[in-house]
Amino acid sequence: MEFPAAEPYRIKTVEHIRRTSREERERILERAKYNLFNVRSEDVYVDLLTDSGTGAMSSEQWAEMMRGDESYAGASSYYKLAEAVREVFGFEHFLPTHQGRAAENVLFSTLVGAEGAGKLVPGNAHFDTTKGHIEARGARAVDCTTEEALAPETEYPFKGNVDLAKLRSVLDAHPGAVPLCLVTVTCNSSGGQPVSMANIRAVSELCRARGLPLFLDAARFAENAYFIKTREAGYADRSVREIAREMFSLVDGCTMSSKKDGLVNIGGLLCFRDEELMRKAMPFNIMYEGFNTYGGMAGRDLGALSVGLREATELPYLEARIGQVARLGNELVRYGVPVLHPFGGHAIFVDALRFLPAVPREEFVAQTLAVETYREGGVRAVEIGAIMADRDPDTRENRFPKLELVRLAVPRRTYTNDHMDYAAAVLGSVYERRERITQGYRITREAPILRHFTVELEPAGN
Ligand code: F0G
Repeated sequence: MEFPAAEPYRIKTVEHIRRTSREERERILERAKYNLFNVRSEDVYVDLLTDSGTGAMSSEQWAEMMRGDESYAGASSYYKLAEAVREVFGFEHFLPTHQGRAAENVLFSTLVGAEGAGKLVPGNAHFDTTKGHIEARGARAVDCTTEEALAPETEYPFKGNVDLAKLRSVLDAHPGAVPLCLVTVTCNSSGGQPVSMANIRAVSELCRARGLPLFLDAARFAENAYFIKTREAGYADRSVREIAREMFSLVDGCTMSSKKDGLVNIGGLLCFRDEELMRKAMPFNIMYEGFNTYGGMAGRDLGALSVGLREATELPYLEARIGQVARLGNELVRYGVPVLHPFGGHAIFVDALRFLPAVPREEFVAQTLAVETYREGGVRAVEIGAIMADRDPDTRENRFPKLELVRLAVPRRTYTNDHMDYAAAVLGSVYERRERITQGYRITREAPILRHFTVELEPAGN
């Protein structure tokens, strides 16, 4: 008999959360200008806005916080982190940063430069801060994700993969214009979907043949390694740690938001194979982040990260983690809610175009569904659709991506399975009344870039 994979930990501290009434939520939404980033977390019952920095640390991590050494230069916790980076990633050189986007800033300052016009950074669907850092320099992020990612219902196991033909044609058409390629594992923007080892290897060979550096965006590297173990032929008997090491052995470095698979609440990493390249990045790190042995993190946080990297690559943890996300997915499917398949590693992505077919695309379908989900039961999710896609930097027209998604991201080691069942029931209830939702929102204020976070909206019928 097979037993279910229960969590390899128990709860020691709890944080109270509160249910609100529908009337309260109506007022809260109006005050928030229908932007869920403006809602206070105390007004949210189950917060699935993000899995970033929202996880629970272990008692070992808290103990390491106390041991942490707060020296400006050369703190012992920096050396503990260096040891963990070597052990888990296999990189000898790294710079700490305060979070993932900061690592992107330092990397692109080094490899793209301030004047990026005409330069291209190809990869699989870049995360929005990554795209922001590329576009703000005048360069362009070129999305070469496999076409399989656009079919929401197929069970293709590696929808994060790079389409090699697309990548090759970008490299062929723009010789000399590509300062680096970037592969995101798992690929958040394509639905938390993994990239296979074979694909990373093929991209690596393509880049090496042309002398181009290849970096991973490793925010969710452990979840990617777990999917390789469970889905890719030849990896079932390899440990998650071995698989992760093999992934990193194929690239020249990585950026990492440690707020995901680092199991900490703040922090980032920029790792390099080549010491010289790291030396080029150091002045930017010192200017933007901090001295090279702390880079915007407190010593205690460096220590907690050194433990978190190891805990995140343990199989029982990943089984429970990915299993909990799949439980949410299966419950949603039971209610008939259209979701992306296969389920992502960190989140379930609801297909808003199929959920709310009567809402016009110009009225932001995924945002409409995210707002309804909060209104229905105090569950906060995030729009991954036309608002997040921003305007085209050249034409300033709205960009309407092929998919309008609502992401239900599950914080690590934070909620119970009952919370997952609750969230699924809330969406199931919105789904029951979906035919009466025909109107979306219009923008009343937006920023020129990364408008997602600060956009203000009003119901489109007003
Ligand atoms: N890369 C990926 C793939 C991400 O998902 C994120 C953040 C970043 C880089 C930036 O890292 O937040 O530490 O600066 N994703 C969060 C999310 C915000 O909700 O998916 P950061």
